[in-house]
Amino acid sequence: MVLHVRHVGLGVPDLRSARNFYENYWKLEVVEADGDRLYFGAGCPESHVLRLRATEEARVDVIAFAAESPSEVDRIAERVAHHPRGRLIGEPGVRQDLGGGYAVRFLDCDGRTVEVSADVRGRVFRPVEEAETRPKSIGHVVLNTIDLQGAREFYESVLGFMVTDWVEDVMCFLRSGRAHHIIAFTRAPHASLNHVAFEMRGLDEFMRATGSLMRAGIAPVWGPGRHGVGQNTFSYFQEPSSGFVLEYTTAAQLIDDEHGWTPKVYPADAQTTDVWGTANARDEAVSATLIGRPDPGLWSPPPV
Ligand SMILES: [Fe+2]
Repeated sequence: MVLHVRHVGLGVPDLRSARNFYENYWKLEVVEADGDRLYFGAGCPESHVLRLRATEEARVDVIAFAAESPSEVDRIAERVAHHPRGRLIGEPGVRQDLGGGYAVRFLDCDGRTVEVSADVRGRVFRPVEEAETRPKSIGHVVLNTIDLQGAREFYESVLGFMVTDWVEDVMCFLRSGRAHHIIAFTRAPHASLNHVAFEMRGLDEFMRATGSLMRAGIAPVWGPGRHGVGQNTFSYFQEPSSGFVLEYTTAAQLIDDEHGWTPKVYPADAQTTDVWGTANARDEAVSATLIGRPDPGLWSPPPV
């Protein structure tokens, strides 16, 4: 099984504008610049939590998960090779990007490039202190898919995820450890990135971060609020130059009894989406922003 989301790699058409947003507004730290690639760190030991690459169109390059050991990377590669909808991008081996390590890349059931790695070098980082609005790490990623059951089956059988909860038959939350979800899938007319959620230190820091973007004139797409399913707080914002949606989140439900847990099916109502009732309505415009455009990165692994 995998441990957590290490980083997300995004292709962006305007690297300078995207950098400005992630560095000066989203409060990530540039840790390395390498030609057309920029690496951002957060308040965690990961070498980076976000990689931006200059591309013609906005696209998802890679979603990278941590595995506990190189032999687990090998086992996952085996399972991809034997899955009818999995496609390896080369054999497992030395990872050729910031942090090094041992990794395998493959295309998932919808053609997304996924990386699973072990033994990646961490970096010296400064932990997030009280009242700081810097994100700690990536908490979860939500992906849009046409085939919700196909995605669930692939991520369960290849990566060892377990279903935590559902929202009707439109959303499926998957865990790999105690956090309620580190990945989720939403039924949509096409496959694309729904959003990347950044974990904040706590409720106070979550609200301060939300407020500091609002004061800077960047209104949330949706939020702030607290989801009924997963119990995590949410403020969704859109990076203006690429259109990708990011979330500040904290205080997600922890699953203590992993074997005694029975997935629940929540209705798609206001209590499920926003228990506090503080967020703007989840209207068509909000949905359209989260569904985004079909991802040109599908079936097309990045060159690096
Ligand atoms: Fe989320």
